[in-house]
Amino acid sequence: MSKRFYITTAIDYVNGQPHLGHAYEKVISDVIARSRRSLGEDVFFLTGLDEHGQKVQQAAQAEGKNPQAYCDELAAEWKSFAARLELTIDDFVRTTEPRHKETVQAILSKLHAVGHFYKASYKGFYSTKEETFLTDKDRRPDGTFDPAYGEVVELVEENYYFKLKDQQQWLIDYIEANPSFVAPENRRNEVLGFLKNNVLEDLCISRPVTRMNWGIPLPFDKDYVTYVWFDALVNYVSIPAAHGDPTIVRTLNPQLSTLPPSPSAPARPRGNEMEAGKPQLSLWPADVHVIGKDILKFHAVYWPIMLKAMGLPLPKQILAHGWWQKDGEKISKSTGNIVDPMAVIDEWGLDAFRFYVVRELDIGPDGNWTDAGFQARYSAELANGLGNLVNRSLSMLKRYRNGIVPAHSNDLAADAGRITQETTAQLRACKLQGALQSIWALVNRANLYVEQTAPFRLAKDLAQAKRLDSVLYTLCECCRILAVLLWPFLPSTSGRIYAQLGLGGSPDKLSATAWGGLTEGQQIGEVVPLFPRKDQPTK
Ligand code: MSP
Repeated sequence: MSKRFYITTAIDYVNGQPHLGHAYEKVISDVIARSRRSLGEDVFFLTGLDEHGQKVQQAAQAEGKNPQAYCDELAAEWKSFAARLELTIDDFVRTTEPRHKETVQAILSKLHAVGHFYKASYKGFYSTKEETFLTDKDRRPDGTFDPAYGEVVELVEENYYFKLKDQQQWLIDYIEANPSFVAPENRRNEVLGFLKNNVLEDLCISRPVTRMNWGIPLPFDKDYVTYVWFDALVNYVSIPAAHGDPTIVRTLNPQLSTLPPSPSAPARPRGNEMEAGKPQLSLWPADVHVIGKDILKFHAVYWPIMLKAMGLPLPKQILAHGWWQKDGEKISKSTGNIVDPMAVIDEWGLDAFRFYVVRELDIGPDGNWTDAGFQARYSAELANGLGNLVNRSLSMLKRYRNGIVPAHSNDLAADAGRITQETTAQLRACKLQGALQSIWALVNRANLYVEQTAPFRLAKDLAQAKRLDSVLYTLCECCRILAVLLWPFLPSTSGRIYAQLGLGGSPDKLSATAWGGLTEGQQIGEVVPLFPRKDQPTK
């Protein structure tokens, strides 16, 4: 059983509204997952929902609903959101599932048994909205707390704490010795700066049930539930555990086996991985956790410390993306400054949405959505660039050669080979925007080739028949290679290009980019515009 490439996203708060930021994170993760599959790797892609905590409990109460029923309703919406984005997920975690709770409790039992926790009384300020205790360091110069914290109340409370004080130095050393552990580099510097300039406070990992009971009970004290972030981070290992991941199962035994067996089943069981009814996938350590910049501290500080305490290896990379704004302002439901990804997809198609968010914003910096920018890219790069290339190449083949592929030609083989290599290197490095730029170098090269070779003129001169064959072969072969390169980004467009070329199967393996894949004599399919122009009135 070989280890799969394991990629995760942040798990979204179930009570939030799916918006552009959530869609962006899931799309870039899906592009990474698909590109690894295209590179020939076995991949496991996980996303899901964060369902516990005070905010969910309060939101359910406000609607007069039992929190579980409330979560179940919302989870159905989030799952259909994932389906609309055509995410190639292998599982979808909900933190209220027994299979997740079981691992959280196993970990808590283990860490408690070996003395990582202590109980103490704390008097301090607490933000319900952010579910976090605040200190004087969080005050603004005028002494007040940022309104982003919502209502701040003073509490005296006994709780369990996770000792972090002795953990700082090894983590600094680790991040320094492993430059790609936190990416991009400015985020790595941010984490190092934080660790070097602050003394880590111990982490409060419990909430008393008297204040908040919508959480996973502490296995060693029934008066407490688990702090929602401790619970949520564990999703990255609870799902591998449910799939029988050997590293996790070995490390968490006997704690895992003392708990009731999980009723869960894998989302996509695969014959040879089932052993006596028990799924077994080798997933841990994760290859990449894709997250937003706002939750970097949880992933690059608390999570590695939790894993080390459990005795598990650290993930290979934490990849933090930036935040989207719309028209230069924060996305906010209350001010109505939102982008509804579903409305965009309904109007322009899923691939246009996926293209825009990945092409517009590199993974790292913040981005700005404008409708005009979206439409400009749609029209210039998709309709006039890619769409026009495919349409005119295939239409000419129909017109001049009855849609039958002529003899091989190598006219643009060298350009296509170089661009494929560049794209592959970018994909391996999760440089998705750069990969699209490389792919468009081939789109532009092939469009330029049409202008340079002028096949419409060659067609008028019978003496140029062989030259025309060569040009038409080159153009159709470029379209075929583009379909393969584009599959991780624009899966349905890439499938349509393949179908229009009359090819069966899916363009989902980068190994198919070798020049010369189109065979002489092959009959192409029906030619249909890929990206209808929106600036012209539709009939
Ligand atoms: N539940 C926690 C994550 C737990 S992970 C163990 C959470 N949920 S969230 O719903 O608030 O955010 C989910 C993801 O969406 C985060 O990675 C966050 O950065 C991302 N985004 C939320 N708004 C965003 C933008 N405006 N732009 C880009 N991504 C943003 O945090």
